[in-house]
Order: sequence, then C-alpha cells, then structure tokens
Amino acid sequence: MADVLQLSTNSLQVPGEDRSASTSPSGSPSPSRNECSITPLTPSPSPRTELRPRVARPFSVVVAIDFGTTSSGYAFSFTEDPETIHMMRRWEGGDPGVANQKSPTCLLLTPDLRFHSFGFAARDCYHDLDPEEARHWLYFDKFKMKIHSTSDLTMETELESVSGRRVRAIEVFAHALRFFREHALKEVKDQSSSVLESNEVRWVITVPAVWRQPAKQFMREAAYLAGLVTPDSPEQLLIALEPEAASIYCRKLRLHQVIDLSQRPVTNGLDVDGSRPFDSSFRQAREQLRRSRHSRTFLVESGTGELWSEMQTGDRYIVADCGGGTVDLTVHQIEQPQGTLKELYKASGGPYGAVGVDLAFEAMLCQIFGADFIENFKAKRPAAWVDLTIAFEARKRTAAPGRANSLNILLPFSFIDFYKRHRGQSVETALRKSNMNFIKWSSQGMLRFSAEAMNELFQPTINNIIRHIENLMQKEEVKGVRFLFLVGGFAESPMLQRAAQNALGRNCRIIIPHDVGLTILKGAVLFGLDPTVVRVRRCPLTYGVGVLNRFVEGRHPRDKLLLKDGREWCTDILDRFVSVDQSVALGEVVRRSYTPARIGQRKIIINIYCCDTDDITYITDPGVRKCGAITLDLLESGAAAANVGENDKGSTFERREIRTTMQFGDTEIKVTAVDVATGRLVRASIDFLSN
Ligand SMILES: Nc1ncnc2c1ncn2[C@@H]1O[C@H](COP(=O)(O)OP(=O)(O)OP(=O)(O)O)[C@@H](O)[C@H]1O
Ligand SMILES: [Mg+2]
Repeated sequence: MADVLQLSTNSLQVPGEDRSASTSPSGSPSPSRNECSITPLTPSPSPRTELRPRVARPFSVVVAIDFGTTSSGYAFSFTEDPETIHMMRRWEGGDPGVANQKSPTCLLLTPDLRFHSFGFAARDCYHDLDPEEARHWLYFDKFKMKIHSTSDLTMETELESVSGRRVRAIEVFAHALRFFREHALKEVKDQSSSVLESNEVRWVITVPAVWRQPAKQFMREAAYLAGLVTPDSPEQLLIALEPEAASIYCRKLRLHQVIDLSQRPVTNGLDVDGSRPFDSSFRQAREQLRRSRHSRTFLVESGTGELWSEMQTGDRYIVADCGGGTVDLTVHQIEQPQGTLKELYKASGGPYGAVGVDLAFEAMLCQIFGADFIENFKAKRPAAWVDLTIAFEARKRTAAPGRANSLNILLPFSFIDFYKRHRGQSVETALRKSNMNFIKWSSQGMLRFSAEAMNELFQPTINNIIRHIENLMQKEEVKGVRFLFLVGGFAESPMLQRAAQNALGRNCRIIIPHDVGLTILKGAVLFGLDPTVVRVRRCPLTYGVGVLNRFVEGRHPRDKLLLKDGREWCTDILDRFVSVDQSVALGEVVRRSYTPARIGQRKIIINIYCCDTDDITYITDPGVRKCGAITLDLLESGAAAANVGENDKGSTFERREIRTTMQFGDTEIKVTAVDVATGRLVRASIDFLSN
C-alpha cells in the first residue's frame, strides 16, 4: 500500500548495541553508544497492519449522542437489528416556527449547583424565573464553543453562566451527558424486553473533526464523570467525528433520500427558464422533512446506497457538516468492494456555523441601539432576550434567496419599554437615526428586515464557508471531487444552498440528504455498530517526542550541544511518530521502547510535542508545542520492582524495556505498553489535559 505510515528511520536502534537506561522526556538526556538516538530504544521501522480491530466485548445496543453547539440529541440501534435506527423521543417543548428534531443545548443548575433541567425545559424555566431570582441560578447555552476556543483546556477550565457565576466546564458537560444517559437508557429499556446491563451499551459521542486531542479527551472525561462508562472500560465509549459520521450515513443514501441541487442547470442563480429552482427544491425538502419528522425510526441500507451506483472506483467526495458552531469537513473515498472509507485529506473547518448569523443580528442591534444598551438589556431582561432570539431563529430559518418580501421580527414589549426608559427616545427614533435603510419599523412593534438586510446577516458566514470549501478543493488530494454533501442544520438554509450551488456547482454535484439535521446522529450509530468502517485517516498534526542524537559538527547547532559522560549529544531532536496529513490505517502502530532511568522508578513520563507542519527538526522550533504526556505505570505491572536486582540475566536494571505501542489511525490517539522481560502489560495512558 502506497500510503501506509512512513516513519523516519533516523532514530533507528542498531540491534545488539549497548543501550543505556533512560527515557528522554525533553531534555533529560542519557547516553548511548548508538550512532542515532538513545531513546526510544527500538522504534518500529514501519508500522505493521494488524487485523482490523473487532468489537472487544459484547454489547447489545449502541447509543449515540450528538452534542451540538445549538442542539443535541441521541439515537440508538440494537445490534440484533442494525438496520433500524431509533431517534430520541421528544420530551417537551418546541419553538413557534421552528421544527427541531434535537433539543436545544441549554442547561439550568440551581443556585446550589444541582442539576435542574436541560433543553427546552431549562430554557423555559430560566425564562420564567423572576429576574431577581434568576441572578442566583446558573444557565448555560452554546457552551460547546468554549471547548473549541480554549487553547489551554484542562479539567479545571471554567464556564461562566449567563448570570456570571463560574463552574468547572467538565461538570457542565457531565450534567448534560448524565441527562442524555438517563433518557436514552429509559427509552432503550422501554423498547427492549430483555434486561439491559450497563456493559451491554456501547456509547458514541460526536465531536467536530477539527477538535484537537485535549478536547476529545475532555469529552471522554465528562462521560466518565457522567457515568456513561467507567475509566476501566474505555472501549465502551467511542468518540465519533461529526462529518465522518455523516459520511458513514451518506454511503447508505438512496436517490429518493436526497436533494441534488445540480439536477437543474442553473445560470446565475436562476433556472434556464428564469424561474427560481430553489423555491421548488426547497418546498420539496420541506415536505420531505415534515414527513420524516413524524417518524422516529429509520431504516438504512445493508450495503452501499443506490446513490453510489454512479460512482467510479476512486471517486472522491466532501462532506461538510454545517452546524450551529462549526463547519467541519472531511474528504473521503469509498473503497470497493468492502464499502470502507478512506480519508484523503486531514479534517478541516472553522467557526463558521449558523450562530454567525445570530451574532450578525446582535451586532446589527448594537449598531442601531448601542452595544452598551444591548449588554444591559441582556443582563437585566434575560427572559425578553430569550424571546427575541427565539423570534429571530424562526425568521432566520425562513430566509431564502428568492424571497422578495420583508421578514418581520417581533421586538418584545420589554425591549421597547426598556429602551424608552434608558435612552429617553423610542426604538423607532433610534432606527431612523441609525440610517439603516434596509430595516424599517412596523407600527405593530416589529423590525421589518428587507431581503437585503437578511442577506447581509448571512453573507459573512456563508462567504467563510464557501471560501473554505473552495480552498480545500484546490488541494492536490481533493481536486476532482464528484460530490459535495451538505449536512447539519445549517445545510437546510436555502441561503447557504444557493450560495454553494452558485459557487461550487460547476465543480461537483451538491447533495443535501433529506433529514440533514439528523445525518450525524444516524452516522454515529452506524459508526458505533462498526467502528472499523473508516479504515484510513489522515493525521491532523505532526506528533513526536524529544530525543538525543549523537552530536554531529556542522549538522547540529552548537546551542543544542550537551556533554554527558564524556560524550557529545544533540538535544531536543524531534523523534517523529507521525506527520501532518499522513495516511494512517486502523491497526497500524508506531512502536518505541523506553526504559527506566533509576532503580525502583515508578513511572516513566514522556512528553509529546505536536506541530501543524512537518517542516521541523527540533522540539524547540517555532510552532512546536508540548501537547501531552505518555505515562507508563511501572509499579502496577511489577516492572519497577522487577528492576531491583531481579534481572536473571545478571545485567543491570537499565536494560528493562517497556515496549510502547501507539495508534494514530483512530479518532483518538491510543497507547498500550508491555514489559518485554515479563511479557506483562504495563498500565499506559496518554494525557492531553494536564499541560
Ligand atoms: N433553515 C435554516 N436556515 C438557517 N439556519 C438554520 C436552518 N435550520 C437550522 N439552522 C441553523 O442550524 C443550526 C443547528 O444545526 P445543527 O443542529 O446541525 O448544529 P449543532 O449540531 O448544534 O452545532 P455544531 O455541530 O456546530 O456543534 C442552528 O444554528 C440553526 O439556526
Ligand atoms: Mg452538529
């Protein structure tokens, strides 16, 4: 296979050479006679492809949770009937003018930090609290974005509630996951006659593909805290990547389950006959959606869906998950005849989700009424602010490019009243003075947004998405894609659909699955049933550790010279495990051996470094950062004790070799280790949250 993991061999150990004892966490050198590096002891020259991992323990049901920025939900499937996916039951609530299949990602905690409610119930209860009382309660919404935007995420990272009180973010996520756990298990039990043991459930949580390791680990820790699974059985929880999950589902699509935006030739946004194609395809989509929303059970193809019958071997496609917070893309190829997926380019995307439109609306309000006034209003009249955002959400969803008439957004009475009292003038006067020609005041207490005004709110976000996809399509590995699947809630927007068709429709066919908002959930269930379906992934970053090499005059800079035991060493050299955008198949492993530096050493800790590029030599190069650490727990395996004079070959303890195996082809980086002398497993963990 041409694109298996290629490891640099500059740190290969010459077999049989004397190897001294040490790990080399950055800058902790230890000498060796090896011409190359002294640690790791025995890097694998190339990864071996092992059997694709199979389900390790029996489970009878897969429950997937789509933890979204704006909305969340779950779905499940029983392993004895894997072609049927059950969508979550609707618990309560709903918004006028907005058809949601998931629940809003809102959490309400009581003043003494206990869970109160989640979803519509949380929002409605917070809304109904007396404003004085509300100051003591903790209300959180759209909190997933914080995980993406925090560069130094740890278990201690805090989230601020609307009222300004701070709580550990991990607690907030755990409360939400616990809520889903309870609801999902109850529903699964209602549907299954047999008694369900907790280890019979495989949980899947979706995260954006662009999330880094710390964020993925954070989600895992939150799941442990919520009691979804225990840290002793980590394999019972899978982290799924959102666009990847969508892609897994898209493989199953039948022709009648999609809208193909390119089915009609479009010129400058209009059909050749001058009509507006989006109006009819949009109507069609709406109708399909309406129908699918009445059903909570979906059947999927057992093989590849008929949509793919037109595909040639090697055809590539992009899946763009256009959500509330992020737009997240993956590029795949279906491998026939197995139907497995191969990632062709590293996951990409950015914070270009539909909340960008909400923020543009808020910015427009600030422009008209003043940023200080809007801040004040949000703080003093939180319920009215919620009402205003609900009103905007409903109108935002009806915005369409072909629409000529204005959209009315009802301003809550308390907004009008609050403005008058604080500014001494009416909202109408403020609007007039702001010179916002696109927005008019209606005497019925509404802001009338012209089509141009609505367009202005969408354009910056949509432009970011289109620009990102255009750039992606320029990459060598992505050129010539045949299909672009738009999924996620924002993909329902005719504004986005139209812009995508106009800008990209000439390059590829743009497909919108019918129930776009649920595509990720359905795919996540399929992923839980068979996680080996994505056979090859691309590394998002370069990863490695710092090692010592023999110092070579003229090759290595003098400031890296280190003298130890009469030898000259070059310190801080990056021993690369994998390179950014490298193809790694499931089951391919990187092996390194480490050895304790002292008698009785309990732990070996090895710092991991990462970088966005591959063009690096030292761990001190610009752009390289310490991102995590591998811990090998020698005491538990008996390796530390065994070091003390028990080596039957009579050699020194330093020779004890802990063979460490790392996997980069999964959705999370995994590590295992073995004490070579005894053959016993060494407890190995990898931590990206303690930096
Ligand atoms: N017809 C529509 N027009 C415009 N925006 C829409 C439409 N339908 C849904 N949206 C937007 O899509 C978003 C919800 O999509 P989705 O549920 O996929 O996001 P999410 O999963 O919560 O976010 P993320 O995946 O980024 O974490 C909301 O911001 C909503 O306003
Ligand atoms: Mg989403």
